[in-house]
Order: sequence, then C-alpha cells, then structure tokens
Amino acid sequence: MPDPAIDYGDVQGTILRGYRVDLARHFILTITAAPPARAFIGALVDGAGGLPRITTAARWTVKPKCFVNVAFTAAGLATLGVTSQQLATFDAGFQRGATSSTTANMVGDVGTSAPANWIGGLANGAQVHAILSLWVDDDPAVLESVTAKLRAAFAGAFSELSAHDAHALPDNKVHFDYRDSIAQPTVMGAPPRKAKHNAPDDQPQVPTGEFLLGYTNATPGVYSVQPSQLSTNSSYAAFRILEQDVAGFEAFLVQYAAQAGIDAETLAAKVCGRWRNGNPLELVPSGPAPVLPNDQLNDFTYVDTTNVADDDTLGIKCPIGSHIRRNNPRNQAIIGTNSTHHRIVRRAMPYGPRYDAKQPDNAKRGLIGYFINASITNQFEFLTSQWNQLATFVKSAPGPDPSCAGNAVFNISGQDVFLGVNDPASSSLTVAGCGANGAGNKAVTGFSRLVTTRGGAYVFLPSITGLRYLAALGTTPTG
Ligand code: HEM
Repeated sequence: MPDPAIDYGDVQGTILRGYRVDLARHFILTITAAPPARAFIGALVDGAGGLPRITTAARWTVKPKCFVNVAFTAAGLATLGVTSQQLATFDAGFQRGATSSTTANMVGDVGTSAPANWIGGLANGAQVHAILSLWVDDDPAVLESVTAKLRAAFAGAFSELSAHDAHALPDNKVHFDYRDSIAQPTVMGAPPRKAKHNAPDDQPQVPTGEFLLGYTNATPGVYSVQPSQLSTNSSYAAFRILEQDVAGFEAFLVQYAAQAGIDAETLAAKVCGRWRNGNPLELVPSGPAPVLPNDQLNDFTYVDTTNVADDDTLGIKCPIGSHIRRNNPRNQAIIGTNSTHHRIVRRAMPYGPRYDAKQPDNAKRGLIGYFINASITNQFEFLTSQWNQLATFVKSAPGPDPSCAGNAVFNISGQDVFLGVNDPASSSLTVAGCGANGAGNKAVTGFSRLVTTRGGAYVFLPSITGLRYLAALGTTPTG
C-alpha cells in the first residue's frame, strides 16, 4: 500500500517532526474572552501582527528561529464554541480530561501525583483551556522576545495560569542521566528524519492514522471527529510534567543493585532497557561499551526464535519489565492486543538544573512535554494503565533455547520503575535468568516511586484547517 499523501502544511509540526531544539516554554492558558481568543488563534495561523506563525510539518529550507504550536483541552474547545454534541465525538479520554478521578486512577496519578497536588493551575482542569508551546533553537534572547510578543498578543483574551520552561541537557540526556530521543515511531507518509538524526529500525512502519485523525489506523479504522474541519490532520496529546527524584534514583541504584547481585550501572540498564549512554541491552548486553553508531542504536527486536544467540524471548538480556520493552514490546507476543498497535510520539524535554551529586540540592527537575497519539484511550492511557502497570500481559513463550527451560510469563513482575505507582509493599523488577518457572531469576523489590506527576492535561492539536475553523467560530454558521 503506498504511503498516504499528507498535506504537511495542514499539520501542526510537532506531531510529525522533532524540532531538535534546546529551549522550550509552555504557557498554560485560560480563555477569558472568546472573540479575542479566536482572533489570536487566527493571527497565529497567519503570523499576523508580528506574531510567529504556527509551525507546520511543511519542509523548511532555513531552520526557523522559533517553533510555535497550540493545543486545546475539551473545556477550551467548548469555550471557543465547539458544541457538546460535537465534543461527544472526540476521544473518550480527552472528553474526561486529565484531572478526572477516573483518568487519574487509570494512569497512576494517585497519592502525591494526584491532580489535586498539581502545579501551575493544572490542578483545576476546568480552567485549563489551552497550551501554547514555544521552542527555540538555543538563543534565550529569542525565547524572551517571542514570549513578550505572544504575551502582548494574548492579553485580554487569555489569562496565563503558568509558564513552564524546559531545556535540553548535553548529549540528549534526561535527568537520571540516560540518553533519550533515540526511538520514535516511523509514521507512514511523514517527512523523513534527517540521516544524521535517524536511528532506523526494522519495526513495522506505523499507519498514519495512529497519529493523525482522518487516516487509516492500525486497527484498521479511522479516528475522526465532528465537525469535519476539526478532523483530518488533527491529533491529541497527553501533556505531562513528570518530576524526577534524581538523588532517590541514584540511591535506589546503589541499594537495590546489591539486592540483585549486580552493579549499579547494570541495574540502571535493566530498569530502562538501555545503558545510560543509549546502547540497547538487546545489542550490548554485558556492559555499557562505546556508543553504537546512530544507525544501530534502535535496530533490534526482542524475539528471534530462529536464532538462539539473537533471541531474548525470556528477557534475559533486556528485562520484559524494562521501561522501553513495556512501552514498545516490538515483536514480543502480547495477550489481547497487537504489540505494535500502541505506539506514541514523544516530544518531551528536561526541566530544572542538572543534578550534581557533589552538590546535592532540592531543586525541582524532571521531564515536560507532549506524548502524542490519535487515540488517548488506545495509546497513552493504554500504555500507562496496561503495559506500565501490569505484569500479566505477556504471552506464554518458552524461548528457542531448551537448555534455558524458562518461560516469558515468569520473567516480569511489578510495574515500570519510571512510570509505575510503585508502592514499596508491592514494587518489583525481575532480572531474569535461566531456569524453569523463573528459578534463575532475581527480583529487586521494595522500592518507592521515583517519578511524581506534577501536572497534566489532555489536549487536542487541531490541523491548520481546524485552527482556522476555531478562529472563525461565532462569525460564521457552525458546521
Ligand atoms: C520521567 C519520565 C520518563 C523517563 C525518565 C523516561 C526515560 C526514557 C528513556 C531514557 C528512554 C530510552 C531512549 C529512547 O529509546 O529514545 C525512553 C524511551 C521510551 N519511553 Fe520513556 N521516559 C519517561 C516517561 C515516559 C512516558 C510518560 C511514556 C509514555 C507513556 C514513555 C514512553 C517511552 C517510549 C514509547 C519509549 C521508546 C521505546 C522504544 O521504542 O523502544 N516514557 N524513555
């Protein structure tokens, strides 16, 4: 089947393109007056009045100095004039919103992560209407000057609940010191990634409809909403502010590596599925080693029953419960669904200062940004509530090496170390070894949650056609 032709100029850029910038600022906004808010949206689409133009996925010859995208919550769309009948056609999770108790319980936003404790006005989901995001290559002066223009333009239309800055760390590291931004889905019909940033893989390409409404998705079906102007080329995202306890993580590595009889760096790799330098355990199982070339970093699968040396059905190299294997089990067999049907595009960056173990501090730091998908229900919520929180989704599989006598179902326990709720009474990470019924396994148990949700919102990223439709609401008959 040929790749679908996507009108890149109609798609908000962050959905299909990684901007590869160093600075970001996210404005959390309430609409205070709908008519000027609509006018502001129209001005952003056209880049009128000295405003930066909304960045689309269209190719550029000269890299822009700044990138701007805008997204709306269900409450925001309603305030702009989208009717309740129309909103009823939107994704169920999106309609419910991030602060609903159903959502919070499902995705693990409980205890200190509960929405009631969220920062920056995000705790009151009803007042969060829009998130305006600005990304800048590396010049803080550009960030400030564009911020000033945006603030002047949205004053009187929106009130700013908060603004949240993010900045890249050297080598694309995230706090906890892992290299990030390696694996992303290859979306059918999307602009090709630049060769120097490309970490190719032989995983199946992901149907366009997993990331854009109006195209065939993996089911196969087509996600769409009413009215049609808001549908094709639009998408959804979970916006998340995830605070990381770096001192706690480093202490966890030292304490629990001893429990498993491995060294701290090996435990760090087992937790993530990659060494902190980015090398995947699947290809580099026994020590961080020099970083592989870019074109090899993501080129692996977990199961190869025809080749015992390359096979890792049992998760002996890369734990079945590691972060990257839970969030993308690749070709591993999964109960009740297809392992390739829940991919997500990650556009998040670190915030807060880099942690220095020699000068410990209590500064707030973590990861902030968008987890993008065409179905919050089947992608973000599925990942967080199922694969990250359960140890029962793996299909029975003995692996091709009879001398190992294991089965995949015994080789996963607990929840994701990064994203699980991780109560010390039940938390567990299996470090698998050979042996019948998990006899050769070691488990790390009794640890606490190391990532706390500090904010979130479910948002809709309208197409350019959709933004023009919203800008014109109230002035033309609704469709
Ligand atoms: C503070 C929280 C988080 C941390 C520290 C973290 C860290 C990482 C790291 C270090 C990687 C490996 C780099 C790469 O493969 O590109 C990774 C990959 C990944 N993460 Fe996270 N992550 C976090 C939150 C999330 C969330 C909220 C989701 C989605 C629900 C998620 C989904 C994924 C996926 C899908 C991959 C790629 C897996 C693959 O394709 O092999 N992560 N993450």
